[in-house]
Amino acid sequence: MGLCVNLETRPTWRASAFRVCGYLNLTRNGLLEHSKKFQFEHIQIRIEGKHCMVTGANSGVGSATAEDLASRGATFYMVSHNKEKGKIQSSTGLLQICHLSSISKIKSFASRFSSKDVPVHVLVNISGLMEHKQVTTSEGFELNFAVNVLGTYATTELLLPLLEKAAPDHCSLDQ
Ligand SMILES: NC(=O)c1ccc[n+]([C@@H]2O[C@H](COP(=O)([O-])OP(=O)(O)OC[C@H]3O[C@@H](n4cnc5c(N)ncnc54)[C@H](OP(=O)(O)O)[C@@H]3O)[C@@H](O)[C@H]2O)c1
Repeated sequence: MGLCVNLETRPTWRASAFRVCGYLNLTRNGLLEHSKKFQFEHIQIRIEGKHCMVTGANSGVGSATAEDLASRGATFYMVSHNKEKGKIQSSTGLLQICHLSSISKIKSFASRFSSKDVPVHVLVNISGLMEHKQVTTSEGFELNFAVNVLGTYATTELLLPLLEKAAPDHCSLDQ
């Protein structure tokens, strides 16, 4: 009986928590409240000696993130599935080639990269796509799911030992 009540009330509880959290943080008033605590100096930091990895750094949000991290003095690794496009952006970073739609390619990339034995302080998973046609990868997954969900999960999971090596400074961010 207790379990039934719990299962029935959980969606209501989740929806209420979601609304309260949204109201406190994501409304105009919430954002204005947070902005009072914002201090520009907090983001003016140098991160020399830190190793940062950004997937999808060829373009868009990933490229902007990578440029910013590099400008703060970090060693940055850009993960791209396209050697030619990657090369254009790689002037500020060390290009790593990996097709993030394939678990087996992510596994071999992670194992290659792990052999460098460097800590990863920051992992930013930004690679992603929105394919409107039904495309199935050679491993049998729908392409959007393979890159946006599985690829992100596998990359983080397999690089976890390197993130742990960077503790307590490590962090992982997903799109
Ligand atoms: N822009 C926004 O306002 C916004 C808002 C919320 C969420 N997002 C999400 O954030 C992510 C990035 O957005 P964006 O606007 O920066 O997109 P974007 O310019 O299209 O960048 C996506 C990046 O992912 C890479 N990529 C795609 N498929 C890949 C694969 N199989 N293996 C490795 N890399 C792959 C692309 O490389 P190539 O160029 O070589 O294909 C590109 O560098 C997307 O998932 C998007 O849904 C974006």
